[in-house]
Amino acid sequence: MRSHYCGEVTAAHLDQIVTLCGWVHRRRDHGGVIFIDLRDRAGLAQIVCDPDRAEMFATAESVRNEYVLKITGKVRRRPAGTENPDLASGEIEVLCHEIDVLNVSATPPFQLDDEHISENVRLTHRVIDLRRAPMQKNLQLRYRVARACRRFLDEQGFIDVETPMLTRSTPEGARDYLVPSRVHPGQFFALPQSPQLFKQLLMVAGFDRYYQIVKCFRDEDLRADRQPEFTQIDLETSFLDENGVMEIAENMVRYVFADALDVALPAAFPRMTYAEAMQRYGSDKPDLRVTLEFTDITEDVRDVAFKVFSGPANLPDGRVVALRIPGGAALTRSEIDEYTRFVGIYGAKGLAWIKVNDASQLSEAGLQSPIVKNLHEKALAAIVGKTGAQNGDLIFFGADRARIVNDALGALRVKIGHEKGHTNGEAWCPVWITDFPMFEYDEGEKRWNACHHPFTSPKEGHLDMLVTEPGKCLARAYDLALNGWEIGGGSIRIHRAEVQQKVFSALNIGEEEQQAKFGFLLNALQYGAPPHGGLAFGLDRIVTLMAGAESIRDVIAFPKTQRAQCLLTDAPGPVDEKQLRELSLRVHTRPAVPGA
Ligand code: AMO
Ligand code: AMP
Repeated sequence: MRSHYCGEVTAAHLDQIVTLCGWVHRRRDHGGVIFIDLRDRAGLAQIVCDPDRAEMFATAESVRNEYVLKITGKVRRRPAGTENPDLASGEIEVLCHEIDVLNVSATPPFQLDDEHISENVRLTHRVIDLRRAPMQKNLQLRYRVARACRRFLDEQGFIDVETPMLTRSTPEGARDYLVPSRVHPGQFFALPQSPQLFKQLLMVAGFDRYYQIVKCFRDEDLRADRQPEFTQIDLETSFLDENGVMEIAENMVRYVFADALDVALPAAFPRMTYAEAMQRYGSDKPDLRVTLEFTDITEDVRDVAFKVFSGPANLPDGRVVALRIPGGAALTRSEIDEYTRFVGIYGAKGLAWIKVNDASQLSEAGLQSPIVKNLHEKALAAIVGKTGAQNGDLIFFGADRARIVNDALGALRVKIGHEKGHTNGEAWCPVWITDFPMFEYDEGEKRWNACHHPFTSPKEGHLDMLVTEPGKCLARAYDLALNGWEIGGGSIRIHRAEVQQKVFSALNIGEEEQQAKFGFLLNALQYGAPPHGGLAFGLDRIVTLMAGAESIRDVIAFPKTQRAQCLLTDAPGPVDEKQLRELSLRVHTRPAVPGA
């Protein structure tokens, strides 16, 4: 039907007759001349309709926004001074000879170039929303990223193997989405939280290098970087150690950024242990663009009069941290109040601070703060000395259980860093985080949980600690963080059945449950399972970062809301009685009354 994409007609086509198809982005009537911006996926072209072709002009007068047109005309240079440098086609316009209206359109629910449309409206009218240039750009980028991954992995000898969607629960730490079985009343499939166990079975089966760009399903609390169904770039290899796996993964990320975004990432990504990341940044996905760092002062404030500090400093899971803000003495009272409110979101009970007016005077004479009088000189000397505070700086403090301090001051570090320009000027700061703990203690459930997943191998020499000191046992696990986001993670797996059983036991999964839930894995591990490992990247997250989008929803064609709904199709929805009966299900709309 057409000769060119609208957005691709340039001065190279001057004086040619072109045929374009697309949507009316805007129609401007300049009394005597009508301008139509015609839009397709490549961009806009300006169509000029002169009244001297009466039939064409009458059609031009009748078209409205989002009508679908086919136009034929001659490419000419725009008059001097009317060029648009923002458009590829900005030097030219098309003098219209003929217009065909291929379809009319109802008035769209919003103006496509309106930048303030609420997300609910956008998601309800997603089809129209997807016509907008940023969404077209994001989804094209997503495609290029996926294509680059495939190309890279194909070249490295990985083969794409599909794994089932109707399966058994794979524990990745979230709730499962369940699918009832009609054939087996009362029994359920789980949608995979990841292909973890299947990719391990493929290694046992000898495929050596597997990958898949694959949907995963997790019923968890949603945030800006989480969706209930999301896409992993999932890979697994045999006979490589963690360095081998990380090297392949790192090369892939570098290749993808170069190919899809024309960005050169650092030649070798820095590596940091989990312990160091928590110590310095309070996060296992630190944003290393921000130059601010924690200073741990727990030891230095154990015996101060200020209970806010000495209390947590004497708790086994307490922590007291200082965060030095260079030049921060210039912060206003209301800015400090605002930061105090901000850390409150993360559970912090306050945000103590000291303004350093004269670092040589370790008293209220040199240090301006409501808390100085309750800290002895030795503690003040340690605070000023360890943080390296200079005159004109401000020091913030967090004191609480380590988890709250890390979350609150970790988030504050990133916020102030970006707001006040304490950054290193780099656009992209990837970092590998290694040596994760095997387990974390769940206070509520009073039990140990796997930090990564239960198939992760403990570090060499840590096997006996599974039983004796589970909290100190480290895993052969690694995550890749980029600009404060966890974009991928994986591990070297357990390839011996007896080790796997030990880890299950440490997780309080009894022998019967092991056989019932993971018998197929334990069985496969008996038949010569090779050493293997791998990782998975979150495709949606990588593209979100690359696109500079605010939410993962902006790089997914048809995403769910924060409340796990699809506003376009209105899913999830009720089903009729007959379907329920076939599945042997009954819906309790109200909780059952005990004894009723
Ligand atoms: P993990 O659970 O760390 O590992 O997931 C891997 C990556 O997937 C992305 N991701 C998500 N993206 C969007 N929405 C979500 N709800 C979501 N959850 C996770 C993250 C994360 O880094 N089977 C292991 C991998 C392995 O060991 O090989 C796994 O799934 O970017
Ligand atoms: P208060 O003694 O409660 O008046 O607090 C004195 C200062 O300590 C105030 O600046 C509070 O914001 C701050 N503060 C209170 N609790 C904490 C905490 N857990 N961590 C850091 N600062 C705190």
